[in-house]
Order: sequence, then structure tokens, then C-alpha cells
Amino acid sequence: MASSEPQGAHPEAAQEQQIDPWSVGAATDAEGNALSFDYVKISQKWNTSLVDDALLERFQKVTGHAPHRWMRRGLFFSHRDFDKILDRYEKGEKFFLYTGRGPSSGSMHIGHTIPFEFTKWLQQVFKAPCVIMLTDDEKSMFKDGLSLEAAHDLALDNAKDIISVGFDPKNTFIFSDIEYVGGHILMNAWEFSKTVTFNQVRGAFGFDGSTHTGKIFFPAIQCVAAFATSYPELWSDTPPKDRSKETAKMACLIPMGIDQDPYFRLLRDNSHRMPRPSPKPALIHSKFLTALQGVGGKMSSSDPNSAVFMDDTPNQIKKKINKHAFSGGRETLEDHRKYGGNPDVDVAYQYITYFEDDDEKIAQIATDYRAGKILTGEMKKMCIEMLQEYVAGYQARRKEVTDEVLRAYMTPRRLEPSGSTTLPDR
Ligand code: TYM
Ligand code: TRP
Repeated sequence: MASSEPQGAHPEAAQEQQIDPWSVGAATDAEGNALSFDYVKISQKWNTSLVDDALLERFQKVTGHAPHRWMRRGLFFSHRDFDKILDRYEKGEKFFLYTGRGPSSGSMHIGHTIPFEFTKWLQQVFKAPCVIMLTDDEKSMFKDGLSLEAAHDLALDNAKDIISVGFDPKNTFIFSDIEYVGGHILMNAWEFSKTVTFNQVRGAFGFDGSTHTGKIFFPAIQCVAAFATSYPELWSDTPPKDRSKETAKMACLIPMGIDQDPYFRLLRDNSHRMPRPSPKPALIHSKFLTALQGVGGKMSSSDPNSAVFMDDTPNQIKKKINKHAFSGGRETLEDHRKYGGNPDVDVAYQYITYFEDDDEKIAQIATDYRAGKILTGEMKKMCIEMLQEYVAGYQARRKEVTDEVLRAYMTPRRLEPSGSTTLPDR
């Protein structure tokens, strides 16, 4: 570390932020306190484009819909070639949406629902087919002691959670790798793996000479799910027997958390070397939802107090927010009235910005908080009510997802929009 650091700053204790598909850590200062993620820095380091006003305007113009509040407010902050997807849509060319989840134990937390909610919304805007990959194979390869059988059970459970987000049943295919990967998708994976050297995956994923070969091959599977030729049954009633050049022309848009980018960088670097090259998949990246503990905190499935979970009761949500949500308010009521609070670090306020669509209302809440007109308790109350409503709606839909519904989504079949044209209000 630089010797020019000011004396007493203990530069050796400071850590750089670190983000990869398996672990995420904010930078720390010299005292070891977590700092907030520097997303502009990640975007520069990985050479992605920022979602800017020009892109938002173009989105509005091409689709006729206001951009989702998560785009307007910078939660989906970065992309690769999203503008090219808009060009295609404008010309009436087909593309599909692809996202996924590594099935892990227990219920999803609200952070996990972000890419799925957003993908569902894109599906409604574009009427685009959507495929969702459950990487039960990956989880078993990367987690000691998790058998393939157990990972597959988790995948089926997680698929029900994902269905509850509300994807178009006629236009969405959900698959478990363990069940589905064979035939065309497997041929694509082998062809793709032939283009990827060990040096490339070592750089992208931090593997070394003692990494087992299951981990080294897996990225090819996650990557080639972005090729339309992996699923001929989805695009036609009479799917071609080979991976046709026609299907290869169909483009793909992948919404995801920024931690998944290394996979798709690899894909974009190598896809032109495939025997039937497809357009480079386009990507749109989200930030991480702030943990209850505040900036730099991590939502973790193993820490119930780090996040609101989708199976929390209304009372649990209330308790968690009141007790654990970091507050930007002042120590005492007098000070708060006098000096005002800081919404920028206030977790309840941050969550309100995720769920409230009305930009003016949000701005008013921030202004009133800074002015000391809104108290921490009042801010938390608004947040609690929004979260309770969001989670209750999800839980009601989750109850309707029977095994039969699950199998309907998981059956390979020709996809088509169900005809519903109403956009969700959230
Ligand atoms: P997984 O299960 O680790 O994460 C699933 C998706 O959720 C995002 N995510 C978050 N987003 C915002 N805030 C958070 N706190 C938060 N926590 C998780 C992740 O970035 C991811 O988008 N290998 C993948 C599964 C996968 C996949 C894909 C993901 C297969 N194909 C294509 C995205 C796109 C995995 O284990 O994801
Ligand atoms: N920041 C707090 C608020 O806005 C001030 C506060 C701290 C407070 N402890 C309190 C207010 C107890 C009322 C009661 O509400």
C-alpha cells in the first residue's frame, strides 16, 4: 500500500471492495468500518456503460413506457448493449430475456426478488419470452456437503418463489440444470467450453490449480443459456433438429445483479467463436439492495436480521425495521427537529425508494426528513407498511403455486405472450 498515506491512518487495515459471483464485500476504511460500494468504480473497472438520461429517454421513446423507477433511481445502474436491444425492438426483431438463481436453502430475501421483479416488468413491457435458469448443479459444485439431489429439491422450491413474482405463464420457461441440460444446450456448452481457456476462467473467477474441474466447466453452462439455440422447443412447434442458424440470430437480454457480470463478460468475449455465432448478449446490472444494517452491509440468507425475507410475518417485518434498520435520524427528538435527519444513509428511506413509484412523493419525504418534519419512527412506519404490503401480495401468490403450476412453467413448450397488456403499477 502507498507509503504516502497520512500517518496514523493504518493503511494496512483498509480493504478494497471485492465483488465476484460467490462473495461480495464492501471496501473498509483504516478502522475496518464498511464503506458504501463504489458502483461507478466497478463500472469503470469492468468497462460497462452507465444507465444515463439519454438511455432512459430512448427507452421511453421506443417502448412508450416510462422507465421503471429502479432505472430512474439508479438501482439498475449499468449495462452492456441495452441500447442495441432497444434498436432491435424498434425494428420489430425478436429477443428473449434470461435470468437465473443459484438455489439456496430457505426463503428468498427482498434483495433476491429485485432481478426477478425487474425481469417480469421487462417481460410485460416488451412482451418478450423469458427463460429462468436454476443452477442446482452449480450450487452442488460450489457448496461443500450439498448433494445434487438436495440442490435439485431446493431448485424446485425456489422455482415456486420465482413464479410467485408473477411471470407470464405462457411466455416463461423455468428449468433446473439437473433436469434440462442435455441435447442442444449441452452441445452449446461443449462447443463454448472449447473456446474458453483455463487462463480465461482463472482470471474471471479466481480459480487455481487445485480447483476441481466441475467448477471449471460450470461457467460454460451458465453462459450458453443466453443462446436461443439452446432451446429450439421454445420458439417453434416444429423445432429444427439441429441448432439452426435462424434461431441463432435471436438476441438475448440478461437482467442480473452486478456480481454475475464475470460470467457474461466471458460469454461476450468468446461468443463470436461459436460455430453458429449469436449476437452478443446484452446485460443490465443492478446494485445490491442495502442490508438492514446500512451501507456496506450485506443481506445474507444465514442472518435473519440482515434482511426482510419473503416468508416473514407482518409482525416480524415491523420488528426488524424498528429494531435493525439503520437510521439517519438524530439521537434525540430535539436534535432531530432542530437539525433534521439524513435520508441518504437511512435504510427505511432507501427501502421506500425501492417500492414507492411516485418521484414527487419520494422527494417530499426526503425534504421533510432533512427538515426534521418527519421523524425516524414515522419514516419506519411508512417503510413497514410498504414492505408488509409487498410481502403479503407475494405470499398470497405463493400459496397458489401448486406442483401442477410448477410443472406448467417447467415444461419445454412453444412460448407466446398470454395477451395481457396491463402494466403493473409497481
Ligand atoms: P444467485 O442465486 O446468487 O442470485 C440470484 C440473483 O439475485 C441477485 N442478487 C441481488 N440483487 C440485488 N440485491 C441483493 N442483495 C442481491 N442478492 C442477490 C444476483 O445478482 C442474481 O442476479 N449463478 C447464479 C444463477 C444464474 C444467473 C443466471 C443469475 C444462472 N444464470 C443469469 C443471473 C443471470 C446465482 O447463483 O445467482
Ligand atoms: N431520530 C429520532 C426520530 O426522528 C429521534 C429520536 C431518538 C426519538 N430517540 C427517540 C424520537 C425516541 C422519539 C422518541 O424520531
